[in-house]
Amino acid sequence: MEALGMSRLIVISNRVSRPTKNGNQGGLAVALSQALRESRGIWVGWSGEITENFTGQIGFSEDEGVKTATIDLEEQDVDEYYNGYANKTLWPLFHFRIDLAEYARDFEGGYNRVNQRFADTTSPLIEPEDIIWVQDYHMIPLGRMLRDRGHDNRMGFFLHIPWPPTRLLVSLPHHSKLVQALFAYDVVGFHTEEWLESFRHYVEREMGGSVDGDFVTLGKRTIQAIACPIGINAQEYASAAVSDAAKDMYEKVRRSLQDRAMIVGVDRLDYSKGLEERFNGYARFLKDHSEQHRNVVLTQIAPPSRGEVESYQQIRATLDALAGRINGEYSDVDWTPIRYVNQGYPRDKLAGIYRAAKIGLVTPLRDGMNLVAKEYVAAQNPDDPGVLILSRFAGAAQQLKDALLINPYSPEEMSDAITRALSMPLDERKRRWRAMMDSVEKQDISWWRQRFTERLMAVQRNGEVKQEA
Ligand code: G6P
Repeated sequence: MEALGMSRLIVISNRVSRPTKNGNQGGLAVALSQALRESRGIWVGWSGEITENFTGQIGFSEDEGVKTATIDLEEQDVDEYYNGYANKTLWPLFHFRIDLAEYARDFEGGYNRVNQRFADTTSPLIEPEDIIWVQDYHMIPLGRMLRDRGHDNRMGFFLHIPWPPTRLLVSLPHHSKLVQALFAYDVVGFHTEEWLESFRHYVEREMGGSVDGDFVTLGKRTIQAIACPIGINAQEYASAAVSDAAKDMYEKVRRSLQDRAMIVGVDRLDYSKGLEERFNGYARFLKDHSEQHRNVVLTQIAPPSRGEVESYQQIRATLDALAGRINGEYSDVDWTPIRYVNQGYPRDKLAGIYRAAKIGLVTPLRDGMNLVAKEYVAAQNPDDPGVLILSRFAGAAQQLKDALLINPYSPEEMSDAITRALSMPLDERKRRWRAMMDSVEKQDISWWRQRFTERLMAVQRNGEVKQEA
């Protein structure tokens, strides 16, 4: 298969490729399933289940040709590793929210314990020629732990969230240990140059390492650190947008709008997504543009997420109150300005909703990439495309330069962008959309996967990079 030759791919991540309850498959799942299927690889992760006593027993299954190996975790593991270190410590810190980051020894202990459990689980499954690809912030130390178990396979790591500036990262106790662990991999990937820059800066300034192009050296270890933006399956998404399910949804939404323009936002309910700022920006628009009242509806789809973590409970309560307040202030008996929906939709239906929206409003305060922005673009009707308003702080803004790029902290900028998008001439909409669609199509999900795995395949087993002949 493509770049992998005869090697099997072993992917390890917190979540494995399984359709979620609402039928959606995350971008990552779609991205890696194909490579796993073709290389007869294995996806290792947490089953999502809790067990009384950890046994290390592996649950194997195969779904549409993708083999998975999962383990159950103890409640304490989930509290300390997933809710704790991953989502109360690393997630806020890496999204620049040190005010929300909690530092607790138990969290760090649980994180290391669970990573050891994943190392124990994965180790017997690994064969010498396998390519190992570890995903995301839940699993940073795993590569080191596999090396300690004697595996000298080619190993890559990909971070799906931002890498924070050094000045923020140093607030994490034992930060250098975490970063040092990345040097067990051969290739480390980030979505954007900005995150990569911050990583290099940390290694040079905090650890005395050195950087030479893609090569980053710390002590005796040289690894490659690259920017490799993830994409979507653009063609499949564009087809999904004209599927029967999408068309039904499109019609249903359009009927309910009665010729009003719809602005759409789709996000996990997470403080990093800038939902509060989005509602405030929209309220500002309503305040400044009374002539637009009744002409516009904001549909915000926000399935709740990580509900056991307090900061997520708080953002949910804040948004409930804010949506209620804005609707209370501006609604009329036959018009509600915000449709706030706490459920997710399967891909085809979502594609129909995107296509029915004149504006896609994607305003994270910080985001590693943001695939909703790309999905919105791919779902548009080429003859009458909508306008993407995108936060400059999303990784996707590096590629989608023809969106209306805004600062999500500024309600005025958001209001101005909505006004501009609503009256944008068809020619300009088409031109901007074409440029964005070109990027979404070219740098799609296969491009991302191939680019990363090719790098990894070029690494010799002793960690050296093959010289080009
Ligand atoms: C982000 C992370 C993923 C994570 C996803 C959903 O995209 O980068 O690793 O799986 O959020 O979050 P959850 O905690 O529900 O897995």
